[in-house]
Amino acid sequence: MRIALLGLGHVGLAFAQLARREAGAEALASILVRRPDAERPPWALPLLTLDPEGVFESEPHVVVDALPGTEPSRRITGWALERGIPVVSANKSFVADLLARSPGIPDRLWFEASVCGGLPLIETIRRGLAGDRVLRVRGILNGTTNFILGAMEQGMDYPGALREAQELGYAETDPSADVSGLDAARKLSILVALAFAVHMDPAAVERHGIDGLDPARLPGAGRIKLVAEARLHPGGRVLASVRPQRLEPADFLVRAEGAENAVEIETACRGVLRFSGPGAGGLPTAASLWADVAQAVGDRVARVRRLAPAAREDAASRVFGGDVPRRG
Ligand SMILES: NC(=O)c1ccc[n+]([C@@H]2O[C@H](COP(=O)([O-])OP(=O)(O)OC[C@H]3O[C@@H](n4cnc5c(N)ncnc54)[C@H](OP(=O)(O)O)[C@@H]3O)[C@@H](O)[C@H]2O)c1
Repeated sequence: MRIALLGLGHVGLAFAQLARREAGAEALASILVRRPDAERPPWALPLLTLDPEGVFESEPHVVVDALPGTEPSRRITGWALERGIPVVSANKSFVADLLARSPGIPDRLWFEASVCGGLPLIETIRRGLAGDRVLRVRGILNGTTNFILGAMEQGMDYPGALREAQELGYAETDPSADVSGLDAARKLSILVALAFAVHMDPAAVERHGIDGLDPARLPGAGRIKLVAEARLHPGGRVLASVRPQRLEPADFLVRAEGAENAVEIETACRGVLRFSGPGAGGLPTAASLWADVAQAVGDRVARVRRLAPAAREDAASRVFGGDVPRRG
């Protein structure tokens, strides 16, 4: 298998290490980065390229997107899909923007890692709940703000809690998308597209962040959390919001501590399904990327592996269109 990886930051590096462990060092065929002189592990150096089109020179079977922002992910994904190459993305800005602009979801685009890093929500809604009907999705979709609110409950002021989140690597240098609720709105809009087939611009989500929250509101019964919620209303209208809410102590979402996420999905046939766990972090996000890669190309690789060695080369050239996989 040959993987073209976009980005070698927190997520990209964790994914590269996982891919090397799971599929062998030769599975990574090229890695797109921006800074030519940044420090990298020695094994990555021969694979690096600064040219977005250069990633296709290695004729990858799959492109894995661990870049920030909508560009160049949008452009590279377009090129890959035109060539019939699947794309697996952790990039919620790009995925939310793409889904908001298009009426459908490209078949070859996989994006489990883009919402709540380690929680398997996308495949659960996309395939696991096929035939059921989602009525409501609610959750703590942003670990950074959850961490900050928790620290403020312990008596820290907002700037101190934000600084600690940055020092621990939870918050970006520019934390505005997290604290304004935009990051949660992007993730919610991706869930809404899958759950309700409504393609919503994240800007259309009613949004109140924690940046304007009065710390005097925090003490009291229950706990204040930044809750993202989307509900199907009669007539098919979907109402979506992100805002701080005071939750009862018994509320499932209260379980999300520190940078964790928690999500409830209410469906017509199954009632309420509940998920909680790591919503971010290199390794959990990389594990979700790998699960998508395995689905996007794994069947083809497994089909070839099951054959006797003599039959492999012929089958591989049929399955991979002439490219024999390097591991078998
Ligand atoms: N961090 C998490 O826990 C987490 C969880 C879920 C999803 N995500 C998503 O995963 C993506 C990556 O996040 P991250 O935390 O790994 O970011 P990061 O540490 O900032 O790494 C970003 C990587 O992208 C490269 N890059 C940025 N702009 C580029 C450009 N224009 N051309 C080529 N390369 C470029 C950077 O190259 P250089 O190394 O040369 O600077 C770097 O390797 C984001 O979309 C994020 O929202 C992150």
